[in-house]
Amino acid sequence: MINAEHVRNDFPILNKKKQGQRFVYLDSAASSQKPMSVIESMSNYYKETHSNVHRGLYDASVEATRLYEESRKKLARFANSQPEEMIFTRNATESLNLVARSLGDQLITKDDCVLTTYLEHHSNLVPWQLLVQRKKARLVAARITREGTLDMADFEKKLDEQPKLVAITLCSNVTGTLPDIKKMVMKAHQQGAVVVVDGAQGVPHMEVDVKSMGMDFMAITGHKMLGPTGIGALYGKKEWLENMPPFLGGGDMIKEVKIQQSTWNDLPFKFEAGTPNISGAIGLGTAIDYLNDLGMHQVRDHEKKLFKHAYGALSERGMTVYGPSDADEKSGIIAFNIEGLHSHDIASILNERNIAIRAGHHCAQPLVNALGAVAMARASFYVYNTEDDIDQMVLALSHAQRILGKSK
Ligand SMILES: Cc1ncc(COP(=O)(O)O)c(C=O)c1O
Repeated sequence: MINAEHVRNDFPILNKKKQGQRFVYLDSAASSQKPMSVIESMSNYYKETHSNVHRGLYDASVEATRLYEESRKKLARFANSQPEEMIFTRNATESLNLVARSLGDQLITKDDCVLTTYLEHHSNLVPWQLLVQRKKARLVAARITREGTLDMADFEKKLDEQPKLVAITLCSNVTGTLPDIKKMVMKAHQQGAVVVVDGAQGVPHMEVDVKSMGMDFMAITGHKMLGPTGIGALYGKKEWLENMPPFLGGGDMIKEVKIQQSTWNDLPFKFEAGTPNISGAIGLGTAIDYLNDLGMHQVRDHEKKLFKHAYGALSERGMTVYGPSDADEKSGIIAFNIEGLHSHDIASILNERNIAIRAGHHCAQPLVNALGAVAMARASFYVYNTEDDIDQMVLALSHAQRILGKSK
């Protein structure tokens, strides 16, 4: 089991106190904190080896290239893929836009169907909206159940429309819902669709094996998995990536350039135009080392334990909790509301006690609205959170309820 009190010590920001109160960080679904090892690996790179990658013939550049490519290998192993199938991007949003532009523009034609779901973050919705608008195609969304899980019957019914592309999330950033990806990929493939998975919220919290899950593409973002901001990745099956045109043009992504035309570099470089985020990739590699040392099974178990603790405490006190109640069906995220209080007020009350949560529509307006709300408060957990963090939050929320006369 993870000893979160011990883990906390690796995260310098968590030692920051406000009026003597420790920092309770419950917003890792927005962005996780960074351990000292990640911060140091990036600063060491700048202090000792900074230079550009893939072009210098001197020691520092060779070392920078080695570190950058080593991180790619670590990420590929982490998801059970091959390094040439792992393209570094800025974040999950860029990865999804890459697929929508490069593959989508080739694949989708007038009246074609793209299938997504009501569970999606705007990043896995808007790129498909733009694609169908460009192509005069159709975007269809599978519904959710009242409990906030994916309605599999509706998903299968919508597959009858023979979508050419299916875009689904590995984990909802609002309810923590974990759709049965393996089954959905299998069903979508039976209809001949390409499957794009948004892994932004799932990859940091559980073991993900792209080979056994079978998706064609998966978007990853580094800053939610202990890595720095500005670095993410796109996993893509080699057979797709090889046949897709580049997304951005420029240096490093070419093999030979003439005035009128060029040929493209091998994978994954064909999709990495320009100087990449070298320090970011190195930091992400160190974050993966950190997660591997903890063990992804342990990470998942730890978050399940925290969710159960939080769910019990919030529902006992009469708060509205959204999404599945079974920890096996969801990640360590709990979205809730308190009658008579806007979620922004909940977040402000908690902030007075140095407790950070997120409030609002969580960049998933269709989902929040489908659950009958316009805004929600959300606490999300990670490896450094303790049951005491949750107790601190519950104490502050109970106090707010008492002032409002809504306590149970
Ligand atoms: C489910 C999900 N998908 C995609 C994203 C976008 O991630 P990024 O902003 O790092 O591109 C987020 C970010 O909150 C998310 O929660």
